[in-house]
Amino acid sequence: MDYEEMAGKYIAPTYGSRGLTIVKGKGIYVYDETGKKYYDCFSNMGVNILGHNIPEINRAVAEQLERITNLHGSFTNDKRSLIAKKLIEVSPKNLTKVFFSNTGTESVEAAIKFSRLATGKTEIIAAKMGYHGKTIGALSLTSTLKKYNEPYEPLLQDVKHFSFNDIDSLKEVISEKTAAVFLEPIQGEGGIRIPGKDFFVKVKKLCEQNNALLVIDEIQSGMGRTGKLFAIEHFNVEPDMICMAKGIASGLPMGAVLITEEISSKLFSGAHTNTFGGNPLVCAASLATFDYIEKHRILENAASVGKYFIEQLRTIESPVIREVRGLGLMIAVELKTKNTKYAKDLQDKGVIIIPTGTTVLRFLPPLIFTKKDVDEVVKIVRDVLSS
Ligand SMILES: Cc1ncc(COP(=O)(O)O)c(C=O)c1O
Repeated sequence: MDYEEMAGKYIAPTYGSRGLTIVKGKGIYVYDETGKKYYDCFSNMGVNILGHNIPEINRAVAEQLERITNLHGSFTNDKRSLIAKKLIEVSPKNLTKVFFSNTGTESVEAAIKFSRLATGKTEIIAAKMGYHGKTIGALSLTSTLKKYNEPYEPLLQDVKHFSFNDIDSLKEVISEKTAAVFLEPIQGEGGIRIPGKDFFVKVKKLCEQNNALLVIDEIQSGMGRTGKLFAIEHFNVEPDMICMAKGIASGLPMGAVLITEEISSKLFSGAHTNTFGGNPLVCAASLATFDYIEKHRILENAASVGKYFIEQLRTIESPVIREVRGLGLMIAVELKTKNTKYAKDLQDKGVIIIPTGTTVLRFLPPLIFTKKDVDEVVKIVRDVLSS
């Protein structure tokens, strides 16, 4: 029995299969069991922001392994305190405290609970085509595909959805009953949807008028993916909470919620806890990640290489391309036709991307991509989309 068959036999069938066994990664490449190399424009759904097998991150993790790996949040740990300080230093000024989780969906769950505590209200508003995770609370906000939600209904009560980037649609649902509005700055699973420049300023104003919190989900768009540490920085507003995960520890499972002093003042011992959140191992990886980002000017690289990537994709003349859009290294090629065949052809030719919805090819490469890497990938994309 090969690994693919073993996986089919023993792993619960909740994931589709890409038909590929990946056994290692180095830099921007991953390798299958035969040694074939693939450009990783997938990054584990945007997780491996610095690529794979990075010596600086490996060293930090190895050193921490020999000290202590897990430590409950009721004890203080050097690495946990240092990364908390770092996260607050780099986040918008009004965010002063951090809660640690382990995944994106857990960050969203925490933010839902904090919204209730801080406002005394229960109603949450989220956007259509938004993705916030798959635990019951986060899933109630997620609205990308009906098949994710419907089998689990009833989900959370008091959740309303409006059309992303349509302020009138938000006006129809927001009221004094609203505890919080949860939004991705750029919808990722929704197909890389970038809102208008003033959308978030208007959202924030409506939130203030209704005493509702603005919670920004940076789980996919954060950690430099769009050329700024947080994508919301492109839109000139200060959120009341930011949810983080994915790239925060370069591939180790870690999540965080950044909150205001006011929200923090409503929390109490036991308000929300977990066993692994902020464990020293992931905190060490996260500290090393921030060091690397600063030392290697990763944000600048994501901005300039991302711009170049989008420009180069736009030079492809193909009857199947409807639109190329993106910000930094969060990029979509929307097709006029189904994406499945093209995603498979790209994979066979050595480029792994994320088929998104039915027509989008999503590119979330590591932020260490160079213009030369872009040229090589675009050559393959051109071949596949022109044939
Ligand atoms: C914007 C956004 N929020 C939340 C999540 C959920 O994160 P996780 O899969 O770590 O639970 C994701 C995952 O893709 C995401 O893209």
